Amino acid sequence: MEAGAGPGAGPGAGPWIACVVTGASRGFGRSLARLLAPRLGSGSLLVLVARSAAALAELAAELRGSGPGLRVECVAADLGCQEGLRRVVGALQELLPTVPPGRLLLVNNAGSLGDISKSFLDLTDPDEINSYFAFNVTSALCLTSAALQAFGTRPGSSRTVVNISSLCAVKPFKNWALYCSGKAARDMMFQVLALEEPDVRVLSYAPGPLDTDMQLLARTKTGDPEMRQFFQSLQQSQQLIDCTVSAQKLVNLLEENTFPSGAHVDFYEI
Ligand SMILES: NC(=O)c1ccc[n+]([C@@H]2O[C@H](COP(=O)([O-])OP(=O)(O)OC[C@H]3O[C@@H](n4cnc5c(N)ncnc54)[C@H](OP(=O)(O)O)[C@@H]3O)[C@@H](O)[C@H]2O)c1
Repeated sequence: MEAGAGPGAGPGAGPWIACVVTGASRGFGRSLARLLAPRLGSGSLLVLVARSAAALAELAAELRGSGPGLRVECVAADLGCQEGLRRVVGALQELLPTVPPGRLLLVNNAGSLGDISKSFLDLTDPDEINSYFAFNVTSALCLTSAALQAFGTRPGSSRTVVNISSLCAVKPFKNWALYCSGKAARDMMFQVLALEEPDVRVLSYAPGPLDTDMQLLARTKTGDPEMRQFFQSLQQSQQLIDCTVSAQKLVNLLEENTFPSGAHVDFYEI
């Protein structure tokens, strides 16, 4: 069944009053936070989440200058462990109910590749596999449900959730069993959210091959030589996308707000 654009869709959805970006300390998340901050009005809240406290604090200091009255809060926590996840959930439960009515945007961006030197047959340790999924799947689910509940439904408000996805959600890559299956699970999870909560706008955005630390790992650590060569050639032929270019496309999609809720949209499709 095709999901329709649904309630809350269209440009009339109002300004963002609260934005939460995970993985905001570097890479795509940091570029996205930089584009979102100037779009947030006075009295609005931007929450930055990642493990590196210093990098978050530096970004927060930069972004506080973006607009008068913008509140920028950092939560330095490891989303891969229960204590860290609880801390982020606790912060959102405290912060989100305090913002005035408006539009909530939650961007589930933080992610990892796992040990891509290993092939499927090397993945024998359940602790390693569980810890991969705890960060890449469980934390995105728990954070999203907690944020949606904490913000709640109120007159004049709307909620949008973004899942930073990948081509790997729909296409298998050798040595990337954890990453591909984690991204596929997240896409499906967010499709279910779109069905269950028609008033929540849900988007899975595949940002394209980005020039980040994650790409560096892909081209140096992938076990399969052909795959490694493929990632090296992306860099050599200058096909890697600047994070700001891809983040701007996502912001445009969110501002147009006409995507079918639950859709997977790829950088190259728009
Ligand atoms: N790069 C690509 O080519 C590409 C392509 C398609 C999709 N994507 C997706 O785009 C998103 C961003 O990727 P990227 O390339 O910007 O990755 P990146 O450069 O590796 O950055 C990952 C971000 O996630 C944070 N993070 C990592 N582990 C964490 C943990 N345990 N708890 C909390 N935060 C954690 C990192 O901050 P700390 O280290 O400070 O915690 C960092 O801010 C990911 O979901 C990725 O799968 C990337």
